[in-house]
Amino acid sequence: MKTVHVEASKAYDILIGKGLYEGLGGRIKEQFPKAKKILLLSDETVYGLYGERVSGELSAHFSVCTFVVPAGEESKSVENYIALLETMAKDRLTRSDLLVALGGGVVGDLGGFAAASYLRGIEFVQLPTTLLAAVDSSVGGKTAVNLSAGKNLAGAFHQPSLVVLDTDCFETLSEQVLRDGCAEIIKYGILSDRALFEALFAGKDYAKSEECVARCVQIKRDYVQADEFDKGLRQCLNLGHTAAHAIEKLSNYSISHGYAVAIGTALIARGATEKGLLSAEQCASILKLLQVFGFDLHCPYTVEEMIDVMLSDKKRAGDQVMLVIPFEIGRCELVKVPVEALGGYFKM
Ligand code: GLY
Repeated sequence: MKTVHVEASKAYDILIGKGLYEGLGGRIKEQFPKAKKILLLSDETVYGLYGERVSGELSAHFSVCTFVVPAGEESKSVENYIALLETMAKDRLTRSDLLVALGGGVVGDLGGFAAASYLRGIEFVQLPTTLLAAVDSSVGGKTAVNLSAGKNLAGAFHQPSLVVLDTDCFETLSEQVLRDGCAEIIKYGILSDRALFEALFAGKDYAKSEECVARCVQIKRDYVQADEFDKGLRQCLNLGHTAAHAIEKLSNYSISHGYAVAIGTALIARGATEKGLLSAEQCASILKLLQVFGFDLHCPYTVEEMIDVMLSDKKRAGDQVMLVIPFEIGRCELVKVPVEALGGYFKM
């Protein structure tokens, strides 16, 4: 097992390894001796796979009530958020009690926001079950639900108190869900670790290994510690995401987040090379690694179509857009780009 320690507004550990659900209840009880009740949040797919086991572990030490939502992005809704708060209130959870989120990013974000706001904030534990949630959304305290005007428009920064990442969960992921996580893992290599980038040419088995996942979590931890509230440096974690968000939206979310990030990373890498900021050789290496993971990198939308969507994005600052530019593998920087020059940074 590896432990990554985070020192943000709250200090907490991220435990990474195989078989970590064994003895989970006791581990949580040791850290939260005053807690008596747990609200266990999950989705139908994940609950079907791990719900009984996790619930059994927790029930040995706590009174557990469960709230299970359908699997999928639609569950990250205001309606589920309110229903979850009402359930916690009905079950009389107190400020010393806990919410435990068992699942991927949807469950983590929804549960985190409910924990952030119930009784003005209770502690919560993340049990991420997808590779993407493990290396990204379960770490760093961004929580949210979707509004009809867009994704993640209502939320809060609320750090978990513990993250337990059982790598055995990756064995039940579909190829597509696993690949989605790999796009974020490749991102970390391009962002700040050339050795990780090179090691990833070994493929998916390495990407889902304890060593690789722990390295990604450490990189994310460093950005979160440097800029917890996303005012500057943390925005580097959006490498490939400006185009990706536009692609997801244009596809009406039929293109998955990970696949869109892979295409978005290819577009910005080619754009950086066109601008003379990234060598052609390193750009080719980025494209090759994305292809090793099975991303075909064809973008189904024109740059103009994507720019229309980007300009309505919440990250736009007046007449400039912040882009994360790869200058070399392992070094990316934030660059403010005037709206009229944006098109030049994305190359098909
Ligand atoms: N997913 C990007 C961040 O946590 O800042």
